[in-house]
Order: sequence, then C-alpha cells, then structure tokens
Amino acid sequence: MILEVKDLTKTFQGLTAVNQVSFGVEKGKIKALIGPNGAGKTTTFNMITGLTGATHGTVSFKGEVINACPPHVRAKKGIFRTFQNIRIFAEMTALENVMVGCHLSTGTGLLSAALRLPGCRADEKLARERAMRELVFVGLGDRAHLPAGSLAMGEQRLLEIARALVSEPELVLFDEPAAGLNGKETEQLGEDILKIRERGLTILLVEHDMRMVMRVADEIVVICYGTKIAQGTPEEIRNNPEVITAYLGK
Ligand SMILES: Nc1ncnc2c1ncn2[C@@H]1O[C@H](COP(=O)(O)OP(=O)(O)O)[C@@H](O)[C@H]1O
Ligand SMILES: [Mg+2]
Repeated sequence: MILEVKDLTKTFQGLTAVNQVSFGVEKGKIKALIGPNGAGKTTTFNMITGLTGATHGTVSFKGEVINACPPHVRAKKGIFRTFQNIRIFAEMTALENVMVGCHLSTGTGLLSAALRLPGCRADEKLARERAMRELVFVGLGDRAHLPAGSLAMGEQRLLEIARALVSEPELVLFDEPAAGLNGKETEQLGEDILKIRERGLTILLVEHDMRMVMRVADEIVVICYGTKIAQGTPEEIRNNPEVITAYLGK
C-alpha cells in the first residue's frame, strides 16, 4: 500500500465529520472515495494532504506515518491534489499556471526566481519544457499561451491536473474533478485519469459522476456520515444493498 489511513477521525466542535475511517491505496491503482454531500470526503482529503490535522488515527505514506508533516513536506514526499473549487491564476497563461507547480521540484523558489538569481534561467527553461509536456499530456497543448481564465471549465480542470502532474507526484488526489463539466468533457477527463494511471501514478478520486467512477476505479470506498459503509470493486459496490440505500439509490 502506498497510502494507508487507519482509524482516521476528524471532529469539528463536537461534530464528527470523519469517524474511524480505514482504507489503503495500492500503488498504481485508482481508488475512488464516494458518498453523499457532507459525508466527509473533502475532510479526508484534507487530512491526507495535511491541510487539516487528524483528531485521531494515522496517515501513512510509503510505510511512514506522516501525521506530523505540514502540507509542503507531504508534497515533497510526492502527494499532490486538486481542489473541489478550481484554483488557478486567471490572468496568467495556462503554461505559467503549470509552471507554478514546477518550483517545488526544480529547487528554485519563487523568491529567487523573482530576484533572477543565477541558475534561474536554466531552471525556467526546464520548467517551461516540463510544463508544456504536461499541457500536451492532458490535451491542452494548443491552449498554452491563452489566459487561464479564458479557458472553458473542463479545460481549467485539466489545467489543474497538469499543474499537479508537473511536480512528478506519486499519489494524486482529485476532489470532484468532473463537477461542472459536460458529458464530453467528463469523458475526456476519464481518459486522462486512466492515462495518468498508465504512467504508474496512484490516484485517489472523489467524484459524484458514477459513470466515471465505475469506469475508472479499481476499487471504491463508500463513506456516509463520516463512516465507511462499504469497500469493493465497482461491481461489488453497484450491487451492495446498503450502498444503494444510502447513496446510489437516490
Ligand atoms: N472547517 C470546518 N468546520 C466545521 N465543520 C466542517 C468544516 N469542514 C467540514 N465541515 C463539516 O464536516 C462535514 C463533512 O464535510 P466535507 O468533508 O466537506 O464533506 P464532503 O466533501 O463529503 O461533501 C460536513 O458536515 C461539513 O459541514
Ligand atoms: Mg467535498
């Protein structure tokens, strides 16, 4: 297991948003985390990436407990995510948006880049090439020089994915990447997610679009009111009476 969460719990002022959730994600697989709104999916993501501390339980990455690591340290270890609400720099070009993700791994910080310290030129060229490669990978090669804010919603989602990929993560977490996308865009996104797995990356996916989840996921974990109610293959989940009652049946 590349990622393992054990008894993960988060309490907000008396409300238990995530309650003793345990699951593992096998290297090179796509695991989906599904459940109704308010089930605790984003909170689980936040505890895995370090944005929120766990009240109880552990998050282990490649066998190491990382509860005490702040988000940037977890990112350096290879954990990246996209957000439920798109976070891009609208006035910057698509390419520049992806290049932002490079700074972490080229070793040149934003400050030294701003001061144009020696070494930055070469780094910037490398960053530009790597960013372009990821844009082409997600199918946005011809959009590279457009302002990110002018891209369609589906393209902005793909842009965020390119930015996560450029830092060469081992584990990527996608929080509702198909939200707001039309059928064709969702299809393209599904293709891209499968292509990311082909690169050997591991994916944890939160998604409401069940067609996409059933198509791409190797395994699914279902949570409801913060509690894990089922885990299994898409086929098993589709036929699980408890899951149908709690979520799929609606
Ligand atoms: N920062 C917070 N403070 C208080 N309550 C929160 C906070 N974040 C999330 N919650 C609550 O935790 C529960 C789970 O939320 P969330 O993880 O966003 O669910 P999901 O992503 O599955 O829709 C919800 O009841 C939500 O209102
Ligand atoms: Mg959420």
